[in-house]
Amino acid sequence: MNRIYEVELGERSYEIHLGPGLLSKIGELLSTLKVGKRVMIISNTTVAPLYQDVCLDSLEKSGFIPAIACMPDGEQYKNIEEANKFYEPLLDNRMDRNSAVIALGGGVVGDLTGLVAASYMRGVPFIQVPTTLLAQVDSSIGGKVAVNHPRSKNLIGFFYQPLMVLTDINTLRTLPEREFRAGMAEIIKHGMIRDEGHCTYLLENAGKIKGLDEETLVNVIMHSCGIKGAVVAEDEREGGIRAILNFGHTVGHAIESIAGYGTFLHGEAVAFGMLAETRIARALGLCGDDAEKWLATLLDAYGFDREFPKLDLEELLKAMTADKKVLESRIKFVLPVACGEVAIRDDVPMELVTEVLADMIG
Ligand SMILES: NC(=O)c1ccc[n+]([C@@H]2O[C@H](COP(=O)([O-])OP(=O)(O)OC[C@H]3O[C@@H](n4cnc5c(N)ncnc54)[C@H](O)[C@@H]3O)[C@@H](O)[C@H]2O)c1
Ligand SMILES: [Zn+2]
Repeated sequence: MNRIYEVELGERSYEIHLGPGLLSKIGELLSTLKVGKRVMIISNTTVAPLYQDVCLDSLEKSGFIPAIACMPDGEQYKNIEEANKFYEPLLDNRMDRNSAVIALGGGVVGDLTGLVAASYMRGVPFIQVPTTLLAQVDSSIGGKVAVNHPRSKNLIGFFYQPLMVLTDINTLRTLPEREFRAGMAEIIKHGMIRDEGHCTYLLENAGKIKGLDEETLVNVIMHSCGIKGAVVAEDEREGGIRAILNFGHTVGHAIESIAGYGTFLHGEAVAFGMLAETRIARALGLCGDDAEKWLATLLDAYGFDREFPKLDLEELLKAMTADKKVLESRIKFVLPVACGEVAIRDDVPMELVTEVLADMIG
């Protein structure tokens, strides 16, 4: 059932290997790349106890000399101070320019490890082993690596592509249900921005997907990687089309930042964001009520809460304009035109945005 998707980025192209049980093949797969014998896994204190043994065994069997280092679990540790702690173990383990650094974990581990790999000795081979659904379909693809700054999320970072992504869907069996659902928000987003067929598949197979049926999961993750991979291949450094991946994120990020750490998972905030942005699109006359029905039905099928949080309207609007993606103080919105199609607009009147959000907050 193992599948391969190639992200096409010229000489920076790489393969995503996807399937059940791939962690036990990490050594074999790494042997196909031009990397040195010494490798370092970077993980966190939740994921490492679950999956480090199988990875270390496989790497050793293939002749690698693996080491592992961990960060604490949590977004609040995705900062430059924590990243800085990894250079010492890299030196202690005599990692050189050919030594691969492997991120084993969710998006937090992946983003921080990517920054470490991109900066250590001006860049060493980087492998992503995503273990959350969100990381498997989103953060491990596209080469954005970063840590947060107290004043702005993901402020300090690079575009740095991995040499390979290795996605073992069996890791989803230990993932908390809420985290799984949050990852589904990005998958639904992929369908809404580019592919009505993906949305249909998600609706028809919701039971199997939630039940972690292997074949269905592989299909869905593969297809989502394909959508994100294609958008990234068209626009690696976000000069244009890549912005469509931000559907739901203009409002979603603002919700995340003002609700306070830990209130909403990223995917939960994005789900509210998609709902709000779809309403904005309707109010503008960009789409009919079809797109909204699609989105609502999909979110319901995966158990999302659709009752918009009772946040302070002023704060929400302020947080939206404070987002670093706002160029010349114009807010860029990704708005659905139909299920599977979006438009990028930076001329949405603030009065309309305010009205829609006020109505949603109630
Ligand atoms: N680089 C990008 O393009 C990009 C895109 C989207 C999101 N992100 C970033 O990703 C981060 C969010 O990632 P996330 O949602 O994966 O969160 P996360 O990395 O915090 O993981 C969520 C939780 O699940 C745990 N976990 C991970 N895998 C597990 C498993 N298999 N079994 C049990 N528990 C497991 C983690 O320890 C954590 O507690 C944010 O920092 C966000 O900025 C980056
Ligand atoms: Zn997101």
